[in-house]
Amino acid sequence: MAYSDKVIDHYENPRNVGTLDKEDPNVGTGLVGAPACGDVMRLQLKISDDGTIEDARFKTFGCGSAIASSSLVTEWVKGKTVDQALTISNKDVARELALPPVKIHCSVLAEDAIKAAIEDFKKKRAARQAKAS
Ligand code: FES
Ligand code: FES
Repeated sequence: MAYSDKVIDHYENPRNVGTLDKEDPNVGTGLVGAPACGDVMRLQLKISDDGTIEDARFKTFGCGSAIASSSLVTEWVKGKTVDQALTISNKDVARELALPPVKIHCSVLAEDAIKAAIEDFKKKRAARQAKAS
């Protein structure tokens, strides 16, 4: 099966690979797995107190489409608000990368990872606020 040029570009030059400090209260970590194939994606977002995504890093143990999907969403979410980032759907990712049907679940992983990272950030923030009050 042929990968699209955009998948190959992100696969060969992945953007924002790496780790953010998960002890940082402004960092949310999302770890998601694809039951279909066992691939795992970790996405971390650094979110300012006013809800803007300042930085993003990923590590993906998976196929080329999963790596490209995570690389792409790290670019998309930077500078967005949390609410804007939550509107990114796997369909946007699959369309941008021209993923074939058997690779759609790879883009689902990216959408799920964004949601999981934001959820983690919100949980941390709620815990912080509960402590402060
Ligand atoms: Fe596991 Fe995609 S099936 S790498
Ligand atoms: Fe499973 Fe891509 S994430 S084949």
